[in-house]
Amino acid sequence: MEIIRTVSQMQAAAEKMRKRGRKIALVPTMGFLHKGHLSLMRRALGLADTLVVSLFVNPVQFGPNEDLDQYPRDFEQDVVLARQTGVNILFAPEKDSLYPDGFDTYVVQEKLPVHLCGLCRPEHFRGVLTIVAKLFNIVKPHVAVFGEKDFQQLAVIRRMVADLNFDIDIVGHAIVREDDGLAMSSRNANLDGDGRKSARVLSGSLRSAAKMVADGEARAGTVIKKATVMILAESGTKIDYVNICAPDTLDDLDVIDRPALMAVAVKIGGVRLIDNIMLEPGQKNV
Ligand code: PAJ
Repeated sequence: MEIIRTVSQMQAAAEKMRKRGRKIALVPTMGFLHKGHLSLMRRALGLADTLVVSLFVNPVQFGPNEDLDQYPRDFEQDVVLARQTGVNILFAPEKDSLYPDGFDTYVVQEKLPVHLCGLCRPEHFRGVLTIVAKLFNIVKPHVAVFGEKDFQQLAVIRRMVADLNFDIDIVGHAIVREDDGLAMSSRNANLDGDGRKSARVLSGSLRSAAKMVADGEARAGTVIKKATVMILAESGTKIDYVNICAPDTLDDLDVIDRPALMAVAVKIGGVRLIDNIMLEPGQKNV
């Protein structure tokens, strides 16, 4: 596995691979790799001849009062895990290589970001889209894999790729979970013992909601209320949102009469976690 630290070297390596007819897959990450990331990488290895994983904690997608400084980092461990998984190039640029003095151009999307996480994190998706567009121009991938855990992120990236004509296939990968249901996340490392126990309520409340809907409940308000009560019953939880929306537009739904996205964001002891599930209406609602 080659480790590349600068934009110009990565661009040159990508150009060389393309000239040789190699198909390039990209998995962008912010590091502190876990089994969710590794599962994306294995998926990407099956889609191309060369796998580039980027590792960069992108300051532009963090708000002023968010956890940029607390974001977990372990470069040595990430190198070991990436090498074991079969990554060909680990692209780990310095901040100044990506955002040199004078940097002044951002990718802004109008509608999809004004939902879910974008309401609590107003600049977040501008930061995500900007770094992802830059990575696409630097790594020149044919295909890029993103996790459905960040459902809204995947949606805004698909929208950008369509709108700005990036010639890249975007592949969504299912959420990878711990045995007790908690969605894997680098931020889980920042939970203390009690927080880790409380965190099970995210997936637990979503599973109960999916069952309610499969059993015939079609009122989004009722399903949201039940999940809210469940989440607040756990110690140390603070809800950012509990939402049921259309998976394509992310507009709120009142009635669940087709597959709907249920998404939650909860802070536990200051650690912000997200999760989501697709709600499939049962026979009784149709
Ligand atoms: P990060 O949180 O490191 O996640 C990198 C990729 O792994 C994302 O596509 C994310 O959806 C996916 N992922 C994380 N946890 C997952 C899980 N439990 N199951 C499946 N996939 C999972 O998302 C980012 O970084 C950044 O915003 C980035 C896209 C790299 C831009 O900076």
